Amino acid sequence: MALVSPSILSVPGPMRLEEAKRLLSLGADWLHLDVMDGRFVPAVSLPFEEALPLLEAAKEKADVHLMVENPREAIKAYVEAGAPRITFHLEACSEDESFSLLSFLREIKVKAGISLRPGTPIEALLPFLPLVDLVLVMSVEPGKGGQAFLPSALSRIAYLKKVREEKGLSFLIEVDGGIKEETARLAKDAGADVLVAGTYLALQEDAKSRIERLQEK
Ligand code: DX5
Ligand code: ZN
Repeated sequence: MALVSPSILSVPGPMRLEEAKRLLSLGADWLHLDVMDGRFVPAVSLPFEEALPLLEAAKEKADVHLMVENPREAIKAYVEAGAPRITFHLEACSEDESFSLLSFLREIKVKAGISLRPGTPIEALLPFLPLVDLVLVMSVEPGKGGQAFLPSALSRIAYLKKVREEKGLSFLIEVDGGIKEETARLAKDAGADVLVAGTYLALQEDAKSRIERLQEK
């Protein structure tokens, strides 16, 4: 079974909490929280005050995706707020800082995730893989929902699966962007363990059956 992590980025602010609770009650495995700072990506999303009730609702299911530059402060704030898993971007800080942040998350037993833009060579992740619990493969350019899935993500997923096996590692492979029924199938066949889905699930009447279809291996 694949895990499903709905993103509520496309849901208007006042409806987000209710929609998040509904998707969780319909069987979503995680809740994907897209945080944007207007610098790493042009858009700004999810001010911290708005994230707090969502974290509270999702508890162990919260899946924080930080699209912010120099994420140390944001990571500290989310750790203090009790986030169980936090992903940041390799491009958002120096290599040394990435090592330091991943080690910090590991030490305090918060699941550590690393992500990269579609254009960043996947091999750039190699030195970090022994330190991560999760790799988030972007299948769209980060910054907004509703974009088309980039097929180049599939070979990146397959590559990570191969490296994981060869190195005896156990991180999860999560894919984010443009996930719908057909692209979910391709991503799962390539080796994705967790699917983020925004517009395909949010505010959809048949979200329950959509979640179930995405979960099918
Ligand atoms: C994009 C975000 C995604 C996005 C997914 O920057 O990281 O999580 O909300 O939305 P869809 O599924 O509509 O592509
Ligand atoms: Zn995301």
